[in-house]
Amino acid sequence: MDKQTPLVEMRDMHIAFGGIKAVDHVSVNLYPGEVVGLLGHNGAGKSTLIKILSGAYAADGGEIFVNGEKATINNPRDARRYNIETIYQTLALADNLDAASNLFLGRELTTPMGMVDDDAMEAECRKIMGRLNPNFQKFSEPVSALSGGQRQSVAIARAVYFNAKILIMDEPTAALGPHETQMVSELIQQLKSEGIGIFLISHDIHDVMELCDRASVMKNGQLVGTVDVNDVTDDDLLSMIILGKRPENVNVDA
Ligand SMILES: Nc1ncnc2c1ncn2[C@@H]1O[C@H](COP(=O)(O)OP(=O)(O)O)[C@@H](O)[C@H]1O
Ligand SMILES: [Mg+2]
Repeated sequence: MDKQTPLVEMRDMHIAFGGIKAVDHVSVNLYPGEVVGLLGHNGAGKSTLIKILSGAYAADGGEIFVNGEKATINNPRDARRYNIETIYQTLALADNLDAASNLFLGRELTTPMGMVDDDAMEAECRKIMGRLNPNFQKFSEPVSALSGGQRQSVAIARAVYFNAKILIMDEPTAALGPHETQMVSELIQQLKSEGIGIFLISHDIHDVMELCDRASVMKNGQLVGTVDVNDVTDDDLLSMIILGKRPENVNVDA
């Protein structure tokens, strides 16, 4: 896949709830191996924009392209068919089950006799965790016994195992300490190196500066602009978020 074709492009998306323009003609895109941060205050429209991509909301208008081709996403199943997976803040893990059971939750591997094949699932789980998080060892414990970063890696492994190419992560480091945040950061580097693209919703400027290649800032449903994080300072991003002001002398896509 050439670098010129975005993995996903959302063009002129809009949706209103009652009189509120939650997403007001916003365009964003994402290239293979790239992390794009979606920044903005509460109510800016970040989650709504991303819920249109994940099929949770139907847009009033706008177009979505996946690998350059027009995509029709009306429900989460459609999104999955385009290899779009969402990691929600809650991670949606079954706490009492181990990593392998969570990896295959609802999609269990079975033996030729039709029994759940725990050995095969654990072997697959060890394979993918070895790739994504080589330090992970807690294969026989319920995921409730795992740290926040480890739980995050199980949720990501589940998406990637089932072929995610476009990952949406909602505040992945919000509840994590520095060591755990580092783990998620390494995970993200690994996903990037495999050509997976990530939309990372965050309100933490430092996270975005550290983890993202570009940042798209929203305010009151509108896109303030998209910048390369290497071109801007923390203060530039803050002015975009708070004042809706684009930095001067910096290339801004709007
Ligand atoms: N299902 C909904 N029904 C009514 N209003 C909604 C709904 N979802 C979001 N909104 C409104 O849309 C705006 C954007 O919200 P949201 O996308 O959640 O912002 P963010 O994720 O940036 O905090 C807010 O004004 C919010 O109240
Ligand atoms: Mg939100």
